[in-house]
Amino acid sequence: MYKGNGEKIIKEWWDSASEYYQKEISADKMIDVEYGPFGSNEEKLKLLGKISNKKVLELGCGGGQVSIALAKKRAICTGIDISYKQIEFARKNAKGEGVNVEFIELPFSNIDKLKPRKFNVVISIMALQYCTNLNALLKNVRNLLVKNGILVFSIEHPFYLLIDPKDMKIKESYFNSGLKIKKEKWPDKSTHYFAYYERKISDIVNLIMDSGLKLERIIEPFDTQDKIWGIGYRRALVNKIAPTIIFKCRK
Ligand SMILES: C[S@@+](CC[C@H](N)C(=O)[O-])C[C@H]1O[C@@H](n2cnc3c(N)ncnc32)[C@H](O)[C@@H]1O
Repeated sequence: MYKGNGEKIIKEWWDSASEYYQKEISADKMIDVEYGPFGSNEEKLKLLGKISNKKVLELGCGGGQVSIALAKKRAICTGIDISYKQIEFARKNAKGEGVNVEFIELPFSNIDKLKPRKFNVVISIMALQYCTNLNALLKNVRNLLVKNGILVFSIEHPFYLLIDPKDMKIKESYFNSGLKIKKEKWPDKSTHYFAYYERKISDIVNLIMDSGLKLERIIEPFDTQDKIWGIGYRRALVNKIAPTIIFKCRK
């Protein structure tokens, strides 16, 4: 088990990969909230309720597409991300789309710096699998939410991550959760370390309950089409296990 600072390796990878990632994902993401690979969208799932004039905080906003889509529906959005490169893209995207969104370079570990601000909605799309201390983050989110405020977050489905798409066999134990680090060689011959946290569904549910938030829904959506995320998802596996899981919680 890696003993160093997971957040540091994760930041380095996202700063390095940002340009490639932003080229690969679709600009269609700036129209609606897309919940993740094959994971449907807000128009179909209706998890956020009426969003106009609501204060929204997005955690791990990347290129800002989710906040931009919500700002187009008149939400007042703030997006945070650990990667300065991703934040640069987010600011550029917002300008290009003609919407006003505040983007801040800030890691999950420091979101208490946003106090005493309060938000009606906290949203996070495919980002909390990179969170080092989900326990602390959920408690901080609860403090940043108004009474009855909601947290909606999607991550990669933990079951999906266990299967090797090449031979469809289970490649690791569900019980071996924690920080996973993969060494990558990029076409320019540079070496990078991709890191994320695998957590069991029961661990996530228990952390939500420990934070004082109420879990309202777990959604395992499956849209057969996905022109938004596309990259790296093998159809044979996707057809059997949805890659996206969504949690909706309320204060
Ligand atoms: C898969 S991307 C998702 C980006 C965006 N939500 C989207 O839908 O395209 C994950 C994002 O989480 C950010 N991230 C990872 N660890 C973070 C941390 N500790 N604090 C804040 N952001 C983090 C990354 O920089 C990256 O932009």
